[in-house]
Amino acid sequence: MLQSIRSRLIALVLAVALPLLGLLVWVFWSEVSRVHNSAQDLALRIARSLASDLSDSNARANALLTRMVGRPKIRHATAGDCDSLFAIVDFFPQYLNLVLFDTRGNIVCSATPTEADAKISAAAESLISARLRSAPNASLETIVLPIAGKWISVDFRATRDGNAVTGILALEQYLDLDVGAFPTGTVVTLVDANGRIAARSPDGERWLGRDYSATGAGRIATTAREGRAQARGVDGVTRQYGFTHVPGRDWLVYVGIPAGVGRAAVRSLIVRGLSAGMIIFAVVLLLALRLARTIKSPLDVLAGAAKRVADAGYVGQVPADGPREIAVVAQAFNHMIESRSEVETALEALSKKLLDVQEEERSRIAREIHDELGQLLTALKMDIGGLLISAEPLNPDQKMMARRIRQALTQTISSVQRISAELRPAALDDFGLIAAIESDVHTFEERTGVECDLSFPSDTLTFGSEVDAAIYRIVQEAMTNVARHSDATRLEIKLRQNDGVASLEIRDDGKGIPAEKVRDHRSLGIIGMRERARRIGASVEVEGVEGRGTTVSVRIPVPAAQAGAS
Ligand SMILES: Nc1ncnc2c1ncn2[C@@H]1O[C@H](COP(=O)(O)OP(=O)(O)OP(=O)(O)O)[C@@H](O)[C@H]1O
Ligand SMILES: [Mg+2]
Repeated sequence: MLQSIRSRLIALVLAVALPLLGLLVWVFWSEVSRVHNSAQDLALRIARSLASDLSDSNARANALLTRMVGRPKIRHATAGDCDSLFAIVDFFPQYLNLVLFDTRGNIVCSATPTEADAKISAAAESLISARLRSAPNASLETIVLPIAGKWISVDFRATRDGNAVTGILALEQYLDLDVGAFPTGTVVTLVDANGRIAARSPDGERWLGRDYSATGAGRIATTAREGRAQARGVDGVTRQYGFTHVPGRDWLVYVGIPAGVGRAAVRSLIVRGLSAGMIIFAVVLLLALRLARTIKSPLDVLAGAAKRVADAGYVGQVPADGPREIAVVAQAFNHMIESRSEVETALEALSKKLLDVQEEERSRIAREIHDELGQLLTALKMDIGGLLISAEPLNPDQKMMARRIRQALTQTISSVQRISAELRPAALDDFGLIAAIESDVHTFEERTGVECDLSFPSDTLTFGSEVDAAIYRIVQEAMTNVARHSDATRLEIKLRQNDGVASLEIRDDGKGIPAEKVRDHRSLGIIGMRERARRIGASVEVEGVEGRGTTVSVRIPVPAAQAGAS
């Protein structure tokens, strides 16, 4: 299928725009994954630093406890004398309190916590007492307690007398799980050796003790001790996670940074990119459509003019504007039209001349035939007649011969008359247009068997000899075509005259002339009709309807003085 310039240009714009759009989408995704990767990197870095802090503070606490439980004064401490020993915690701001419990969970002695830490410390101690009381032989693993929004880790050491456990020394210290310094929405989770949440910031109390290994974030740690991934946390929120184990313990630290962090910047970049892209696309599309119109409109004008040249011999000029290449075509077209019109003028003159010559020649031959041949033949016929009635009678054979010759002569004379009449009908000169047409129609009916209907305003209608002759010849050619090509059974010839225009219509009911034959340059009969009409300023239309017949219509402008009855 042929494609228009417009659709090709639109295809071109799309061919450029779609890959660009694809590129933009690709940039977006790679930016988003870059942002995710860097968020995971950050999460892992935070997790590592928290894990090493935890491990360090744990190690320091253990070292302190180990040294202390080795001291005889502590092994045998009583409520009265431990205060001075335990005052050591005052020098470490991260330590809340140092407490010695007996094996049943009762406090033997304790340091004096600062006023700010006293409440938290008291709450921690009651929890530790409860734990020691309910399971006196429980392992002395470090525990983490959430109290009043703070995280407290407690390390234990047993004091011994020989092999017998005499008491439990517990060091309470703050865990630095504050997420305030990290990107908004960051979550830190501490998971113990059993895969349960030992601490979480924020909302720790809510999730404490939950099984973390079943969550998306928990699952990422099943194969590695350290790693990073996008996953769902225990609260169902998707984040970029980094996790690592706490050195020296079976604990894992998870740091989750919200998935959306950093994406907003990428999104706004993409939105700006897309908006600019859409504007550029719209502008380019508009320009393409304009260009298509700029090319198409002069081409349409040219195509229209070319069609009119083909259909109606248009001789006007087309504007030589639009793009340079098309303007060049338009100039060439105009040049062609000029040359064509010059050739046509010459052809017109030639055909006029030809018709004049033909008409003159026909008249001369008709006159010669009529005057010379006709006279001679008539004289011969009279001679033969004389022979038949002469004084010296002919013998019967001679008589028969003479009669045959006379008969042949009679036929020859009427043939000569018919031929000369067709060449230049005397009837046209002698009796006028209508009588000449009537006489031809009569002969036509006899010869072809086509039923004819002739209609005209008056028997003596005439338009002057030149116009009459043209009309007569047009009728003659139309009738010949009906006889030769139409297979018609009826023929109607109408001549009308009103308001300075005479109209002639010759209509048959035959098979109908095909449209291409009307325009065919080989249809010399039709071209001849047009030529004759043009000479008298008239026009001819030939129209056929398949199976219904053909109509030849002639419009002849008639100056008032010329028309009338002779
Ligand atoms: N009345 C008609 N009915 C059907 N077809 C016609 C009729 N008149 C003309 N035609 C068709 O149009 C063609 C052209 O006609 P045209 O008179 O120009 O040429 P022609 O009759 O073939 O030759 P000539 O030059 O001797 O007249 C014919 O060959 C014929 O096919
Ligand atoms: Mg013809």
